[in-house]
Amino acid sequence: MLDQVIVAADNALRTLAGVGHAARTNPADSCAQVDAMTDVDRRRSSGLMRVNHVGEVCAQALYQAQALTTRDPRLREHFEHAAREETDHLVWTQHRLDELGSRVSALNPLWFAGAFGIGLVAGRIGDAVSLGFVVETERQVEEHLDSHLTALPAADLKSQAIVRQMKDDEARHAANAEQAGAADLPAPVKWLMRAAAKVMTTTAYYV
Ligand SMILES: [Fe+2]
Ligand SMILES: [Fe+2]
Repeated sequence: MLDQVIVAADNALRTLAGVGHAARTNPADSCAQVDAMTDVDRRRSSGLMRVNHVGEVCAQALYQAQALTTRDPRLREHFEHAAREETDHLVWTQHRLDELGSRVSALNPLWFAGAFGIGLVAGRIGDAVSLGFVVETERQVEEHLDSHLTALPAADLKSQAIVRQMKDDEARHAANAEQAGAADLPAPVKWLMRAAAKVMTTTAYYV
C-alpha cells in the first residue's frame, strides 16, 4: 500500500510539474506547419488546448486514485495502463500550448485534487462502479473532443491531429472499461458529471 501511495504522489508531482514523457510519437509531428494562424486563431486554440490539458490532468488524478483503491491486481494494471496512455495526451497538449506561446491552467493543482477525490470515492464504492465511472467519463470526453474538432481553427492542423488521436484513445478506454465489467451509472450521477465538466471546461478556457 505504501508503495502505491508513493507511486501516486510521484505521479501527482510529475503531472503538475509537467515533466512526463510520451511513449508514442506526437501525432502533430506528421503535420506540415502552416503559418496561417492569426492572433485570434492562436488565442482560440490556446483556450481549447488548455481545456484539453486540464482534462488530462484530471485523467491522471482519476486513474491514479482508482488504481490506489482497487484490490484487484488485474484492474490496477488496467487503470495504470490507461494512465500511461493519458500521459501521452498530457505531454502532447502541453507541448502544443508551448508552441502556441500559451500556458497550462494556473488552477491545475486544484483540478488534480478534485479529480483525485472523486476517483477515491468511485474506487471505494466498488470496482464495477469505478469502471462505470471510467466509461461515462471517457464517453463525455470523447464527445467533448469531437466538438473541439469543429471548434478549433481550420488552420491549426497540429492541434486537430492531437485531438483526433486523443478522441480515438478515449473511445478505446471506454470500451475497455466496459469489457472489464463496468456498471451503468444512474442518470443523476451522469448529469452531475456533465455539470462538473462544464464548470471545468468554461473556467480552464481562460484560467
Ligand atoms: Fe486522454
Ligand atoms: Fe482516456
